[in-house]
Amino acid sequence: MLNIVIFGAPGSGKGTQSEKLIDEYGLHHISTGEVLRRHISEGTKLGKIADQYISQGHLIPDELMVKVLEDVLDSNPELTAKGVIFDGFPRTIAQAKSLNDMLKRRGTKVHAVIGLEVNEDDLIKRMLNRGKESGRADDNIDTIRERLNVYHNQTSPLRDYYIGEGNYHAIDGNGEVGKVFSLIKKKVDAIK
Ligand code: AP5
Ligand code: MG
Repeated sequence: MLNIVIFGAPGSGKGTQSEKLIDEYGLHHISTGEVLRRHISEGTKLGKIADQYISQGHLIPDELMVKVLEDVLDSNPELTAKGVIFDGFPRTIAQAKSLNDMLKRRGTKVHAVIGLEVNEDDLIKRMLNRGKESGRADDNIDTIRERLNVYHNQTSPLRDYYIGEGNYHAIDGNGEVGKVFSLIKKKVDAIK
């Protein structure tokens, strides 16, 4: 079993690299952003709440988000058996502690945190570029700037938290997709 947290700023390539990890290692992918966007498009109660936060570039409150993730894990026990790529979760220290507890209760843990480190100018370019077609409510310049502020204030402290836990692996995420993946693969193969 291999549980990987793919960590990084908005636009750093978490979703893109998750696809490649799925192909290579057959892991189950949970993107909390995708889970929330599905709820928004289906017009659920959670979707209506999430929409207010996402469109402002703010985080959904921890307590709600932890419950959302716990529900996803409980509803997919057979899919998660081989291991999970956590994409977009945790985003706060409180979420990281909850994730540790959730996995411990299931007899497992976070095996590796892959931290995609990308220049800020490139992050903005990537998201603006994607925004031309994505239809994502948060891919516009004002919301992108707020997402980056939120990342610096609330999420980036997790880097030190996981360095403290001894499982943070920094990856230079600036190159082209295949090159970044080969750096990730090297780390993951060494951990497996
Ligand atoms: P979420 O969906 O997680 O979005 P995000 O973190 O802002 O990141 P993105 O999905 O935009 O980027 P990514 O890192 O996946 O990069 P991608 O591969 O797409 O969260 C959205 C919102 O949901 C949050 O703001 C929050 O409101 C809420 N939320 C979600 N989880 C939450 C949580 N745990 N707690 C509270 N709230 C939560 O790549 C980006 C673009 O760049 C793509 O177009 C891609 O093709 C391109 N690209 C990728 N890699 C490269 C490369 N190497 N070179 C050139 N281009 C590249
Ligand atoms: Mg993503």
